[in-house]
Amino acid sequence: MTSVLITGGTVTTASEQYVADVFLDDGVIVQIGANLQVAADTVVQAEGQYVIPGGIDVHTHLGETVFRTITADSWESGTVAAAFGGTTTVVDFARQEREGMSPIEAIEHRRRQAESQAVIDYGFHLMATNLDSQEYLEELAALPGEGVTSFKLLMAYPGTMMVDDLTIFRAMQVAADTNAIVTLHAENGHVIQQITDQFAAAGRVQEHMHMHAHPHLVEGEATHRGIAMAEMAGSAVYIVHLSSRTALTEVEAAKARGQAVYAETCPQYLFAAYEDYENAGFEAAKYICSPPIRERANQDELWRGIETGALSVIATDHCTFRMQDDLAELPPQKPMGKGDFRYIPNGVPGVENRMHLMYQGGVVEGRYDMMRFVDLNCTMPAKLFGLYPRKGIIAIGADADVVVWDPNADYTIEAATHHMRVDYNLYEGMQVSGRPSTVISRGEIIVSGEEFLGQIGRGQYIRRSTPYVLDHPQSVTAR
Ligand code: URP
Ligand code: ZN
Ligand code: ZN
Repeated sequence: MTSVLITGGTVTTASEQYVADVFLDDGVIVQIGANLQVAADTVVQAEGQYVIPGGIDVHTHLGETVFRTITADSWESGTVAAAFGGTTTVVDFARQEREGMSPIEAIEHRRRQAESQAVIDYGFHLMATNLDSQEYLEELAALPGEGVTSFKLLMAYPGTMMVDDLTIFRAMQVAADTNAIVTLHAENGHVIQQITDQFAAAGRVQEHMHMHAHPHLVEGEATHRGIAMAEMAGSAVYIVHLSSRTALTEVEAAKARGQAVYAETCPQYLFAAYEDYENAGFEAAKYICSPPIRERANQDELWRGIETGALSVIATDHCTFRMQDDLAELPPQKPMGKGDFRYIPNGVPGVENRMHLMYQGGVVEGRYDMMRFVDLNCTMPAKLFGLYPRKGIIAIGADADVVVWDPNADYTIEAATHHMRVDYNLYEGMQVSGRPSTVISRGEIIVSGEEFLGQIGRGQYIRRSTPYVLDHPQSVTAR
């Protein structure tokens, strides 16, 4: 294993900033200090640049069979794209995909898919769809000991991924007993279905109508219900892809009560808006995801949630489908829903641009400082999902997942040059300041400027430990 010395950069963690050299050897950070006198195989000069922990994206869907198709980004293309954007770890999903697939089988199935392709490190949230048997509940309870310390449940997509409240509550009780965290897709799937059916009966299924089938309150109600169930079970809860001020209000109220409640939002809810696709015809399919990308006025509420700390994490929900069915290796993509939003696979790309966008919108535009940027994109994801302090920090002994971030490099986001295997970019033509100049994963330089240097399949599965969450009260229900 080679050694790397990063000289003269501004080391930035979630809580401090100072100029120092950082020496990486054998995959870990071994020395940090001024003018280190060490012999290194490679020297990276970082004067005038930030030296930050590798980004951690805790919400991706790579190579996933979903919405009657498969996501365009495989484990290979998705993790290469992530690396170019400064992300060195993803936590994706292992879903119980079919009747008879147990929680442990779901994890093993996804590990087999990822292991030969991933170029950065990865873990899985167990996405439970069936906890009806004692056997499955026992397997779920065993998972945290095996390094799977988060369970995902969906309150939407009836007939496929949606689970009932009993399943959610059971998972929360297991999480409470095993110090895991439950993550929720919080939308009321029954209400969405009913509104959608009524739109269909009235012939109102044009692409942009997707948003109208997902009003703010379906998210607010489910968020409230999920938080209340977590309080009754005594578990920590994390709301994924929070998109609406109504849901944000629920998170704020729970936090104010001292409950262990956390939430992420995603760049698409901060940088894109309903007005961008309202009159776009099939082009609107680019924006279709759930919860939907909402009115522009909603963006300010989410930025406020980031500023107050109600939103703790930025993740992407990277779930890509192409706008053209032009790759033989992929089943039909967005075009399968042309003219009818009910058949458009839900999801948008983002893994490559998360840090570009959040640096631009946060640091460059003056909403927060560089330490908060690190906290949102690297440290809090690591803490909440049991990767900290192995990842998410520049500290001696931590994995040498390090990004040298050049604040002065200008970058234009565009599909023609991005590395995601999707034929559009939601932020096409947007100019940002700041991008990674060097990306290092466990001590190996995997991206240098425009060049990818990593080996396909070098990424490692990470057994995660206990999430750092607030002490939460014991279950408020008797057992
Ligand atoms: O539209 C979305 N978000 N697609 C991915 C699946 C999910 O709900 O996270
Ligand atoms: Zn979701
Ligand atoms: Zn998702």
